[in-house]
Amino acid sequence: KPRLFSGMQPSADSLHAGNYIGALLQWKQLQRDYDAVFSVVDLHAITVPQDPATLREKTRRTAAQYIAAGIDPSASTLYVQSQVPAHAQLAWVLNTITGYGEASRMTQFKDKTAKQGLEAASVGLFTYPVLQAADILLYDAEIVPVGEDQRQHIELTRDLAQRFNSRFGETFVVPEVSILKETAKVYDLQNPGSKMSKSGDTENGILWLLDEPNRLVKKIKSAVTDNDGSIRYDPAEKPGVSNLLTLLSVLGGSTIPALEAEFAGRGYGDLKGAVADAVVAEFAPVRERALELLADPAELDRVLTGNAERADAIAEATLRRVYDAVGFLPRR
Ligand code: TYM
Repeated sequence: KPRLFSGMQPSADSLHAGNYIGALLQWKQLQRDYDAVFSVVDLHAITVPQDPATLREKTRRTAAQYIAAGIDPSASTLYVQSQVPAHAQLAWVLNTITGYGEASRMTQFKDKTAKQGLEAASVGLFTYPVLQAADILLYDAEIVPVGEDQRQHIELTRDLAQRFNSRFGETFVVPEVSILKETAKVYDLQNPGSKMSKSGDTENGILWLLDEPNRLVKKIKSAVTDNDGSIRYDPAEKPGVSNLLTLLSVLGGSTIPALEAEFAGRGYGDLKGAVADAVVAEFAPVRERALELLADPAELDRVLTGNAERADAIAEATLRRVYDAVGFLPRR
């Protein structure tokens, strides 16, 4: 089977609807047809300050949510990035072939530093996309399923793979990005012009996978819409309503045109009710299963360690290839 790689940062207590719909749903589908490797990317998370105890907890919670959402840790390889040393090692090598200007053009870095300024950012945050390239290239991944916000990072990964191959000889597989058009970007419920994000500033705009059902319902009922009153998909003019239609379409299994027909002449209250039902039906069982898994952290840690050994074997072999290609002396 061809290889797939993807990952998420353990940067909050819970994943949100954007992570779930943009990425996890794709992962679940694709894991059957691919040799899938899924990482909890804790090395990425420390590019911004983290409290150590909280980071450990978030890492377990992220892994538990992968499993609860349907990632099978015996069929796929689900592991924690810091347990596989080759990530940091390959990132160093790739840093040396990445242009400073090239790295400076990463829009996510620019967005993340826009508020506080460059002085406040770590160098790790700056080279973050290079570490991401290392993640993907270590596993010879052919496909990387992500949301739209990661597209530029995957393009950088492709550029770095091609550059390395042409300088040092065929070493890396050049990966393809997989972004599903309909779910590429889930928007904040309170601020439907912006993507739903862990660092979003409106807690009510974010649907957390681990939210209690009644909180989910409350947030959906108070989602920002518009004064036009008609239920149709028009992201430019009606971002709030369009976002709700996307959620309902993906989770409820109807197409957007079918939903537009179903809700023609009805009010936003009806639409929100249907969205709330669909979200709760999807999230509540995942939440319960995740909490069960988290009740036995030692067992969860054992599963992750076993998976890290599988990941390490693949990653280590790629790293040897790379070290040899760049001319490092073999350790005999
Ligand atoms: P992260 O942790 O921010 O997000 C995890 C995944 O969720 C997707 N996503 C969304 N999709 C749709 N709508 C949204 N509002 C939304 N918000 C987030 C992201 O696109 C992503 O797929 N740099 C990555 C983590 C990473 C990675 C990798 C991914 C590190 N190494 C290698 C793929 C391959 C990140 O910060 O994702």
